[in-house]
Amino acid sequence: MKIGKETVPRSSISTSDEHTIVVRGHDLSKELIGKISFVDHFFLLLTGKMPSPVQTAVLNATLVAIAEHGLVPSVQAARMTFAAAPDAMQGAVAAGKLVYNDSSNNCGGCHTFKPAGATGKVGPALDDLYKNAQLAGLSVPDFIRQSIVDPNAYVPPGYPKNVMPGNFGSLPKSQLDALIDYLVPTSTKTVSP
Ligand code: HEC
Repeated sequence: MKIGKETVPRSSISTSDEHTIVVRGHDLSKELIGKISFVDHFFLLLTGKMPSPVQTAVLNATLVAIAEHGLVPSVQAARMTFAAAPDAMQGAVAAGKLVYNDSSNNCGGCHTFKPAGATGKVGPALDDLYKNAQLAGLSVPDFIRQSIVDPNAYVPPGYPKNVMPGNFGSLPKSQLDALIDYLVPTSTKTVSP
């Protein structure tokens, strides 16, 4: 018996009958479970062959390297949510949090922001931007946008110029908008104008 509907184009990766499940020609319960590693099984599924020790080592190293670059559930979930429903607030928040926490942007490395659990101390805390927005003569959302796109336009007292990276203006528009939506609420809720 093949796995899956008979009407669906099928592969021969696995087959099963009432006694055995066979994966790429190997008996799942007798030859694979408890005998080979997950990475070896992945290699077997993908290529149809058992890996050599060298291939196992390279695949292991590759997967560890990928895991360090965003192959984490929060990234996948936020991207899918935002792509499916860009107008939904939850989507924007999820995506904003994604952009904020993205290790290449590293906002949290420099800024404290409670909703993201970030405790950076290089730049001002972002939990309440109302006062600085007022000093800069802008609404909170406009101030946040300006601070991200053109950081030197307003530099709050006691903080250095040219430290906040100047290249965030080139983030895709959807990411920038989501990031601003993400940063605004705490500033408007906690301070009365
Ligand atoms: C290398 C450290 C660094 C990184 C990374 C960084 N910032 Fe900043 N940021 C600063 C500094 C320093 C200031 C204050 C000086 C200025 O306004 O340029 C600042 C200012 C700001 C302000 C204005 C705050 C205020 O009260 O005036 C906002 C908003 C802001 N950053 C958002 C972000 C976001 C969002 C990210 C990630 C996309 C980010 N920053 C990444 C250092 C950083």
